[in-house]
Amino acid sequence: MSGNSSQLQVDGKTIDMAIKKGSIGPSVIDIAKLYSQTGMFTYDPGFTSTASCESQITYIDGDEGVLLYRGYPIEQLAEHGDFLETCYLLLEGELPTAAQKADFDYRVTRHTMVHEQMARFFQGFRRDAHPMAVMVGSIGAMSAFYHDSTDISDPQQRMIASMRMIAKMPTLAAMAFKYTIGQPFVFPLNSLDYTSNFLRMCFAVPAEEYKVNPVLSRALDRIFILHADHEQNASTSTVRLAGSSGANPFACIAAGAACLWGPAHGGANEAALKMLEEIGSVENIPKYIAKAKDKNDPFRLMGFGHRVYKNYDPRAKIMQKTTHEVLNELGIKDDPLLDVAIELERIALSDPYFIEKKLYPNIDFYSGITLKAMGFPTSMFTALFAVARTVGWIAQWKEMIEDPSQRIGRPRQLYTGAGPREYTPIGRR
Ligand code: SDX
Repeated sequence: MSGNSSQLQVDGKTIDMAIKKGSIGPSVIDIAKLYSQTGMFTYDPGFTSTASCESQITYIDGDEGVLLYRGYPIEQLAEHGDFLETCYLLLEGELPTAAQKADFDYRVTRHTMVHEQMARFFQGFRRDAHPMAVMVGSIGAMSAFYHDSTDISDPQQRMIASMRMIAKMPTLAAMAFKYTIGQPFVFPLNSLDYTSNFLRMCFAVPAEEYKVNPVLSRALDRIFILHADHEQNASTSTVRLAGSSGANPFACIAAGAACLWGPAHGGANEAALKMLEEIGSVENIPKYIAKAKDKNDPFRLMGFGHRVYKNYDPRAKIMQKTTHEVLNELGIKDDPLLDVAIELERIALSDPYFIEKKLYPNIDFYSGITLKAMGFPTSMFTALFAVARTVGWIAQWKEMIEDPSQRIGRPRQLYTGAGPREYTPIGRR
């Protein structure tokens, strides 16, 4: 393999394949012609060594624990900006000027209401439905309400659909929460910023005034920034694949939300908190560490490990700091779950099993403690992740739609099933 090309020897044939270099990070070997030249596919279940696309949105260096949104380090965006600024950056590629930010905030704010018949759509769910079941259903249902922004070939409609998704996800998530706890929906209030509006829609009740706690609003806004995008993770890849068929953006985001729900992905924050509650006390930690290391035990430390990060997830560090901020603001001096989490992290990071496998806390390890302290039930954690990740899904979907080389995604397989055989009538089986 030289600088710009590589060669593969297959059955005595030499196949030349170009090497494409990125601006930073690993280069790729272009294998697009491999099948036509060799009659063979590559084989990479889980896509551990496969780049599915070219993108300019988010860059992760898993070994160094680096995360950049359009080149800006996540630490700086989380420290200095707000979530809507990050949304603008991910969508447009540059940080907004003051005028651009004001216009973007204005436009998002005025898309936060949902069609009144969406409220009736919710009435069909059981009250004990998981909020993510409600979210997946209601996001998909948006395709039935906003026909003027489903033509993906129209840039104007693509942008309106993007604004609608970013603006309405908090409203849908708050409605899902209110519906499952039997409280009336709270309408968005245009005088509030994005995250304060969401907190009010979740926790206000008609019986009294609701006052947003600015410390909690800022903390949740930062949590949204941390969750906004993450390269070609499972749910983003789902959105890209759905979008590659030309499906409308609401349907694609619903597919992404469905994928995010899994405990190995966005459902890990809910699973991590349940794990900390199951461990219960510092004394029980060794038993669970042993379970996590036991090959015959399916138990895993939820919130630990990552396909890309083989170092500390930079988001987890910011998350841990935010956890302490929120607990201090709420006057929670000693949270037993936090004690278990800190001790579990300490023990795991000194254990050869976790060191050899490069398993570190990921963003989901601390987020649950923070969200629970804020008053969110565990079942809402993944819905909050979906609110934040919507901008990443939309930005990646737009990038794919606007890529002139874009084609429908259609992977192949290694077939190991039955070969051709004759049908046997049922009387002779
Ligand atoms: C997210 O992709 C993204 O970017 C996702 C995300 C995003 O922002 O979009 O960052 C959000 O999904 C974070 C990850 C949340 N999931 C969890 O916390 C669930 C627990 N973690 C694991 O299930 C696992 O680490 C994954 C799913 C995150 C990664 O799985 P991989 O890359 O396929 O790794 P693997 O399952 O092949 O594990 C490698 C080894 C295995 O041991 P061996 O078979 O090699 O002996 O490490 C072990 C695993 O058994 N291992 C763990 C472990 N995670 C991996 N052992 C104990 N506890 C764990 N948590």
